[in-house]
Amino acid sequence: MSANRPAAVVVLAAGEGTRMKSATPKVLHEICGRSLVGHVLAAARELEPENLVVVVGHAREKVTAHLNEIDATVRTAVQAEQNGTGHAVRMGLEELGGSIDGTVVVVCGDTPLLSGETLRQLAATHSADGNAVTVLTAEVPDATGYGRIVRDGVSGAVTEIVEHKDASAAQREIREINSGVFAFDGQLLADALGKVRTDNVQGEEYLTDVLGILREAGHRVGASVAGDHREIAGINNRVQLAEARRILNDRLLTQAMLAGVTVVDPATTWVDVTVTFEQDAVVQPGTQLLGATHVGEGAEVGPNVRLKDTHVGAGARVINAVADSAFVGPQASVGPYAYLRPGSHLGVKSKVGTYVETKNASIGEGTKVPHLSYVGDATIGEYSNIGAASVFVNYDGQDKHHTTVGSHCKTGSDNMFVAPVTVGDGAYTAAGSVITKDVPPGALAVARGQQRNIEGWVARKRPGSAAAKAAEAASGERSEEG
Ligand code: UD1
Ligand code: MG
Repeated sequence: MSANRPAAVVVLAAGEGTRMKSATPKVLHEICGRSLVGHVLAAARELEPENLVVVVGHAREKVTAHLNEIDATVRTAVQAEQNGTGHAVRMGLEELGGSIDGTVVVVCGDTPLLSGETLRQLAATHSADGNAVTVLTAEVPDATGYGRIVRDGVSGAVTEIVEHKDASAAQREIREINSGVFAFDGQLLADALGKVRTDNVQGEEYLTDVLGILREAGHRVGASVAGDHREIAGINNRVQLAEARRILNDRLLTQAMLAGVTVVDPATTWVDVTVTFEQDAVVQPGTQLLGATHVGEGAEVGPNVRLKDTHVGAGARVINAVADSAFVGPQASVGPYAYLRPGSHLGVKSKVGTYVETKNASIGEGTKVPHLSYVGDATIGEYSNIGAASVFVNYDGQDKHHTTVGSHCKTGSDNMFVAPVTVGDGAYTAAGSVITKDVPPGALAVARGQQRNIEGWVARKRPGSAAAKAAEAASGERSEEG
């Protein structure tokens, strides 16, 4: 592999991408958790190039900031005006001192499906054949808009690339197209770029003209045909963006399934490139797994789940839930209808049940928060049970405060824990309590008004009402029974 290690990869990302109709530059649009240019850089990195230069132009502040964020070692070259792909490569080479010895690979920033493997094949063909230039081509069903690969009728050798707009009717029939990806001899590329003219329909410096120039000068020109034409598709609008997302998502799910993950409905399961699984994980329909989400061995997520940067431990179950930056311990149970916000940490075999929201909360091993509750800024020990409809009252309108509930506690339904407050180990609280003071270990806290029954109130205040009649009938039955 290192034999084919290129001297440089130049990524073209200066174009505007008008057809995206977006305030976001085209190459920053995302599929599967990574920008278009981010995907291209990841594939380029697999070549282990000595230099990696991205040519930026349109919205270059935004694009450069993004590049620095995802890959601090990447270099950028500025193409202030977009005078064509040839001009763009020239700007890229200037960043490298004007020319460079060895192989220069050129890729476009808007081809997110291009794999490192295809790039490696291109580089291998290029050096094995001793070419001055090797173009990556593909046979496509509809070649409209693409540059066409013109081959010699007798030898089949590539002779030139003709842009769609400049092509004759006969050339437009050709279905082998230029992917926009090339491997060049660095020195010959620099020389040829100096000879590229702008006498074409678009008045631009075409990189594609380099191929014809080198061939006419007697150099070897070759082509590497991509096995799957969908890999080289450039994204120009949001329909193509969605198509590419579908293809990449299918690729990721196929990898996961072949590695032992059950994906019940690939059509409604969406994953980012950074998601990881362990064997026998099960993904039910309607599930989105994003960022650094991890689904452990035998864990089941879905249906209808959206997890971002969330760890799901072995054997855990997450149903109808949304989670962001949460940790779900082994064999824990989440949902249906739960919302785990950042800093939620669920211990082994713990439970966050139906209509429960947690934030910055540690829920110990075996502890259950089964129904209708909010747990914010809290630490709950092991094997405690939080009664239904409880609220950890963490915000006084100005600051957030912490609540601690110990281990083996049983708190009643409809409790308010007004933070800062601590409930000691083994303590109980009565239903309907507003806990404002610390509860000692083993105590029962009761913090609610005493019940008072005013006998005969309905008969006196609501005479003749349905309630009064029902009460009267009930008291008759009571005296008969007595
Ligand atoms: C280009 C090729 C065409 C090929 C197609 C594949 C040329 C002349 N044509 O056409 O043969 O079939 O790609 O998708 O090369 N860019 C710059 N600066 C510029 C112009 C473009 O950086 O001045 C960048 C764009 O951001 C984009 C890439 O180069 O990433 C390709 O440019 P684009 O305008 O999409 O070229 P096509 O017309 O699609
Ligand atoms: Mg294009």
